[in-house]
Amino acid sequence: MSIVQDARAAVAFSQELYRSKLSTAYHGKVRHDPFARLRMGEGRDNPYAVYAELRPQGPLVPTRLGNLATVDHSVARSVLTSRAFGVRPLEGPSTTSEQFDLSFLDRNEPDHSRLRRVAAPAFSPRMVRGYRSRIEELVSGLIDEVHGGETTDFVSSFAAPLPIGVITRMFGIDEDAGIDTTAFARYGAALGGSLDGIHSLRHARELMEAATALGTMFDRLLRLRAVDPRDDLTSVLAAERDDQVRSEELMSMCILLLVAGFETTVNLLGNALLALQDHPEQWRLLTEQPELAGQAIEETLRWNPPVQRTERVAFEDQEVAGTRVRKDQWILLLLGGTGRDPSAFPDPDRFDITRSHGTEHLAFSSGIHYCLGAPLARLEATIALEQLAIRLPGIRRAGPVTMRRTTLIRGPLHLPVTAP
Ligand code: HEM
Repeated sequence: MSIVQDARAAVAFSQELYRSKLSTAYHGKVRHDPFARLRMGEGRDNPYAVYAELRPQGPLVPTRLGNLATVDHSVARSVLTSRAFGVRPLEGPSTTSEQFDLSFLDRNEPDHSRLRRVAAPAFSPRMVRGYRSRIEELVSGLIDEVHGGETTDFVSSFAAPLPIGVITRMFGIDEDAGIDTTAFARYGAALGGSLDGIHSLRHARELMEAATALGTMFDRLLRLRAVDPRDDLTSVLAAERDDQVRSEELMSMCILLLVAGFETTVNLLGNALLALQDHPEQWRLLTEQPELAGQAIEETLRWNPPVQRTERVAFEDQEVAGTRVRKDQWILLLLGGTGRDPSAFPDPDRFDITRSHGTEHLAFSSGIHYCLGAPLARLEATIALEQLAIRLPGIRRAGPVTMRRTTLIRGPLHLPVTAP
């Protein structure tokens, strides 16, 4: 791209960005539009109040752009599992998404399955079990850091380093491969943050730099593992290069596997500790019965999930829950709202780690795009919470919590704690 083209693209991008911000502010503040409010301060502070306003309006609520939205658990699940919906229109230009190509997360069938099949072996029960000792070792080291009576930020000192350590290991990234693991983690975190969209020109530039640097790192690692395979994800992927998948497809798959497991897991850990600190009787119960850690994670995923929404587009005219849905119309699936649906979860606003989940929450989505990393995320979060309850039963909040400014990804940015 020439400098002139670059500058034109930058100006067009910033105009678009500010137009969309102004429009959200106008519709949210002046018109009191619930979907605009979800993307503003109110949605960040308490999206659940907005979901509660939407619920009585019916299973599918029209949005101001002519699309539909739902907080209904069974409607959302049926859209996610329906073959009559997908992640982008079947024909015509791809989505208007301002994000990177996120490999099979961004694909309909048959491309979705062709690509997902390549990465899936790295998440088999055997592989995931194999990550256990690495996770335990990481958790133990991180607890040593938090422990000691000083006020620490739980997010930066525990919740963030854990998934970074696990993913670095999963890819087989190490200094031996000539890769600077700190730079890898920094670039990964930058891209992970982009799941919520691009916020400024500076942000766009940082993301481009991070994507380019990661591309170089992955390319190098894939070449190394192609000739000298190890027991890691990169070796699994390298074996498929040129056979099932083109090189550039492999690159976006690496980026997907990196960003999908980063911010999501950080925020699951943050949301879990925050909920347990806000419900001291539940924390006490967990310290008495640490084996409830897995259930506490499921309850966090239902009650305050890290991924608040996704969307699907209709491939054909059809009827959903008694409403006409036209071809190419989008349905916004408010996953955070579906966890509070009283017809799926009795007394849904109550956070209760002993709740037996008769119904599966949608925090990991459903259907063909069901989170590939769910078993790994569950294992990581469960080990972390169990060990925190055993080793740091006295952990307490030690100051005001700052929430992330993003609205698609939800969780604390800073959570000060002390652990005597
Ligand atoms: C708490 C942690 C996590 C949450 C809440 C989460 C949530 C989700 C959700 C909601 C989707 C589907 C989005 C949609 O249907 O549009 C998804 C897809 C995906 N996730 Fe996760 N995720 C988590 C952790 C992870 C981890 C640790 C990894 C891998 C290391 C991962 C890899 C993926 C991949 C590859 C997909 C795309 C699946 C497909 O399109 O077939 N996720 N995740």
